[in-house]
Amino acid sequence: MLDVHGGAPLTGTVRVRGAKNLVPKAMVASLLGDTPSVLRSVPRISDVDVVTGLLGLHGVAVESRPDGDRPDGELLMDPANVEQGSIVDIDAHAGSSRVPILFCGPLLHRLGRAFIPDLGGCKIGDRPINFHLDVLRSFGAEVEKTAGGIKLEAPRRLRGTKVKLPYPSVGTTEQVLLTAVRAEGTTELKNAAVEPEIMDLVAILQKMGAIIAVDTDRVIRIEGVDSLDGYVHRALPDRIEAASWASAALATGGDIFVENAAQPDMIAFLNIFRKIGGAFSVEEEGIRFRHPGGRLSSVVLETDVHPGFMTDWQQPLVVALTQAQGLSIIHETVYENRFGFTGALRRMGATIQSYRECLGGTPCRFGRRNFLHSAVISGPTPLHGADIEVPDLRGGFSHLIAALSAEGTSHVSGIELINRGYEDFMDKLAGLGAQVAQA
Ligand code: EPU
Repeated sequence: MLDVHGGAPLTGTVRVRGAKNLVPKAMVASLLGDTPSVLRSVPRISDVDVVTGLLGLHGVAVESRPDGDRPDGELLMDPANVEQGSIVDIDAHAGSSRVPILFCGPLLHRLGRAFIPDLGGCKIGDRPINFHLDVLRSFGAEVEKTAGGIKLEAPRRLRGTKVKLPYPSVGTTEQVLLTAVRAEGTTELKNAAVEPEIMDLVAILQKMGAIIAVDTDRVIRIEGVDSLDGYVHRALPDRIEAASWASAALATGGDIFVENAAQPDMIAFLNIFRKIGGAFSVEEEGIRFRHPGGRLSSVVLETDVHPGFMTDWQQPLVVALTQAQGLSIIHETVYENRFGFTGALRRMGATIQSYRECLGGTPCRFGRRNFLHSAVISGPTPLHGADIEVPDLRGGFSHLIAALSAEGTSHVSGIELINRGYEDFMDKLAGLGAQVAQA
């Protein structure tokens, strides 16, 4: 439980490190190499711990060591002794993360079989894995869903395949990449996701010896090779964390320099930030985000796959929009259920209404299917402290921002979920002048 005393602007500097949505996957890629891999700028977040544990159970020695002047920032992963982990031990990781599903391809190549525990991750929609299992089958894997997890076998070497995804899924694109690089022959993936984190994974795999062409129109072609080496790589910075701090600066009337924030990966966010009335300056070492004073403006936006406005940016930004003048409209097109966190904001004084219709944008997969996936925020509304239970990673961070911009004290429970994606967030908040204390 956290006691949060709101009302003061957040000011100062925070540093973001490697992206949560790349680092654990880059760690899984180390399983594909015949020699050790080195990954730099690794944040201390719980998804990294989960993958470290699972790699260890499969015989990959993972050593954490200082990265120049950045303590604990570098991981050395040695796959020399890959072996089948015990199902009971693997199962102990059930419900901890979504990343374990990406062990399928690498383990099938190394061992001919794999056991994947039940997945965890944020409850922001159904989050099925049908695309993953379909593509694995099309590579020639035998897949059996059991009560405790998924059992996979590759009776022979996996073969390249042609796949068209029903939707440009980030995880499934990664699944295809991690499987195709060592499959026999060529794989063609249509309707692939092309997020910067995926391009960084492509860069890592290319360093390992893979042959991957990213064509126009979301087509990725992979020529399988017989073996891969390890890699040395610095993970791209976390653009979701960077945008979260930017939203915190706007919501609290503050001024935050986000060290390592990279403009090219945040173009869509920066456009919206500017339209709302936020000020930013791109500097050599990062981006400075601030509330310039005066009124913020409302905005109409739609979340989308890259290069659109990321769904993960939506939740923190909604808090800032409660302080904007007029009606903001958000159409969430990636997840069917990502507005659950607005209930707590309403209790804090925000005026937010959710709708089943596709508002303000192009009709999406969720229209007419009874999902409250559009929201209208009417502002500005002063927020006041409340008792809040953190619902998921991004929603939880948003609640913290709301509590920090509210008058009075909030009691926030379930903050462990925030550790999944925000390294050292308590220290960072304290460094920005936030009045937060463990109760
Ligand atoms: N989908 C299916 N079937 C599948 C896979 C996906 O229907 O087999 C649907 C999902 O239900 C969703 C859509 O496709 O509606 C997109 O899902 P996607 O596969 O792209 O998401 P993911 O790989 O599970 C990653 C990030 C998410 C981020 C999304 C979109 C990781 C570990 N997670 O999830 O990050 O929101 O891509 O960019 O990389 C977060 O960081 O808070 C977070 C949730």
